[in-house]
Formats: sequence, C-alpha cells, structure tokens
Amino acid sequence: MKLIIASNNKGKIREYKDIFEPFGFLVRSQGEENINLEVEETGTTFEQNAALKARAIYDRAHCCVISDDSGLEVEALGGEPGLYSARYKGLQTEHERRMAVLKGLEGKDNRNARFVTCICFIDETGKEHLFTGIWKGVIAAKEEGANGFGYDPIFISEDGNGKTTASMPLSFKETYSHRAKAVKALIAYLQSRSLPA
Ligand code: IMP
Repeated sequence: MKLIIASNNKGKIREYKDIFEPFGFLVRSQGEENINLEVEETGTTFEQNAALKARAIYDRAHCCVISDDSGLEVEALGGEPGLYSARYKGLQTEHERRMAVLKGLEGKDNRNARFVTCICFIDETGKEHLFTGIWKGVIAAKEEGANGFGYDPIFISEDGNGKTTASMPLSFKETYSHRAKAVKALIAYLQSRSLPA
C-alpha cells in the first residue's frame, strides 16, 4: 500500500521510509509522486496545519499520507515562535531566529519552553489520525553546540543534563525528542491495526 510523505526533505523521507516500510507501506515523497502542492499553513495549531497538508495530498492521490508540523513554544514569549518557528519575525537565518528568542527572554526568569510535533496520518479510507509529541525544557543563556538544526543550540531538554540539544549526539534526539515521541505514538497505532494487503 502506498504512503506519501508530505515533504521533499530528503532526511525526513529517509527517516520515514525506515520507519514505515516494515509495516508494508511503499513510502514515496511528494516529489516522487509529482505532486507539486504549496499548501498554505492557515491553521492556528500544529495539528490543524499538519492535517491541512495531509488532506491536500490525500484529495489529490487518494492513498495513505503522512504530514508533520513542528515548532518551539516559549512560555514567557506567549508561546512564540510557535507556528512561526521556521520564519520567526521574518528573520532569514536560524542564528538570527535563535538570537531573537534569547533577546526576547532578556531580564526574564521564566525560561520554560517546549518543542511540539504533530503528525497527521490519513489512512486508506481518508480518516485522519493525529499524534502529538512534546519535549519540555528551558532556553539556554546562549547558543551552544553544533549538532541538529533550528533552535537546538538554545534548547536544554529536561533529560539533557543541562546541555543544549545541539551539544548532544544525534542519537539523543532520536530517543527523546518531540518528533521521536510523535513517531512512537504513530507506530503504536500502526501496530494495533491490521493492515489490509
Ligand atoms: P517543521 O514543521 O518540522 O519543518 O519545523 C518548523 C521549524 O520548527 C523548524 O524550521 C525549526 O525552526 C523548528 N524546529 C522543529 N523541530 C525542531 C528540532 O527538533 N530542533 C530545532 N528546531 C526545530
């Protein structure tokens, strides 16, 4: 059974292939299926945005689809960058966006933050299934570490021993991250249902 990933990010596709092919899916990227959709992320939650992207592809392809949406929420910034994590304040680089978060927290005691991922799986009947993963932590005083991407150099997770996620080996995120948690929930769901041939 075909499963289309609503992304053309090679790393993400490879990761999803490894996870879902053992469940009998033929995993394909949007590009491999010649689906060139630019879906506007008009939702007000990660769940809504993940579902919007997945639904647009399902409506075109009528097969199983997976889409995800993630971001960083900082308590003292009212949940920002949130849905706008990838384009926070219109800043061009990841470094600039990280510095904007650090600046926003200057003089504030509350540095609590969390990463959120929502995965939307649309099954072969068109039914949506949502899986959310949350990774709690705090924002560091300054950037540290070179691994990962995005806000990893300023995020110290609750299980990070005081080190930023970018200072930890990549295998750390594969075990503890928001994305790992959402994927685990989806895997548990797939294991609980019997796949038609
Ligand atoms: P996406 O929806 O997975 O593409 O994530 C949107 C944005 O959230 C990314 O561009 C990053 O800025 C941020 N983000 C999501 N997940 C992570 C993570 O694991 N580490 C650091 N930043 C992340």
